Amino acid sequence: MSERPIPPELIDRLRRAHRVAVLTGAGISAESGVPTFREAQTGLWARYNPEELATPDAFQRNPKLVWEWYTWRQQRVRQAEPNAGHRALVEMEQRIAEFTLITQNVDGLHRRAGSHQILELHGNLFRAKCFSEDRPVESWPDSEEIPPRCPRCGGLLRPDVVWFGEMLPAATLRAAEHAAATAELFFSIGTSALVYPAADLPFAALNAGATVVEINPQPTPLSPHVTFSLNGAAGQILPALIAAAWEPTT
Ligand code: OAD
Repeated sequence: MSERPIPPELIDRLRRAHRVAVLTGAGISAESGVPTFREAQTGLWARYNPEELATPDAFQRNPKLVWEWYTWRQQRVRQAEPNAGHRALVEMEQRIAEFTLITQNVDGLHRRAGSHQILELHGNLFRAKCFSEDRPVESWPDSEEIPPRCPRCGGLLRPDVVWFGEMLPAATLRAAEHAAATAELFFSIGTSALVYPAADLPFAALNAGATVVEINPQPTPLSPHVTFSLNGAAGQILPALIAAAWEPTT
């Protein structure tokens, strides 16, 4: 349970809400043992700076190194399981008429937990696309080559994630902005609220008059602006919130 009780006013607003949008970041997967982006460097990878691996320039300089780094990150995620925080958001989706889950995470754990309405702002570790054509590639012939090659044009394949300096997928970002601007209740969960344009979404919700709730053990630049700030781990607070809103108390 969270250390401080969940405000009754928030429980009431959640129960009555028809349109809810949620933004998640690496913090929601922390309790699954998935390292956050900046913690991801251990073992073999400790000497690399992730901000220097997750760029188009890094890939052009050394595509094998970048592909292998993502293969390693995929392995870390395969060993992980969704946690109570991911599962609580599945329950929230089942209770709310219009529910949108916007995530910056590339680990796919929300889908594995059973969420359906997911907008992946930064792509997905388990998909690939052609570096030259910028088109998704579902499968490619087995080969020893790293990275593998695009079956259409022979160009190099890259992970289908958003790298530093790249645009977010336009339609996904538009859908996220729409969800934020029309939500009655907006949750910002496990994100440092530093990386734009995702960090704009809670402010779009606030400007449109939504109740904005932050769940994070640490303060962020968003904290002074939110309606309710719940300090603690998502894996504890979210199940407590669902129980308080919808489970019988007897
Ligand atoms: P960060 O690693 O920047 O921040 C993780 C946040 O989660 C921090 O604010 C922590 O306090 C919080 N946190 C840690 N444990 C938590 C828990 N159990 N429950 C709730 N919160 C917890 O991750 P993001 O904000 O997701 O972008 O980073 C955003 C983007 O920056 C990433 O998507 C990535 C990175 O650069 C790209 O790769 C384009």
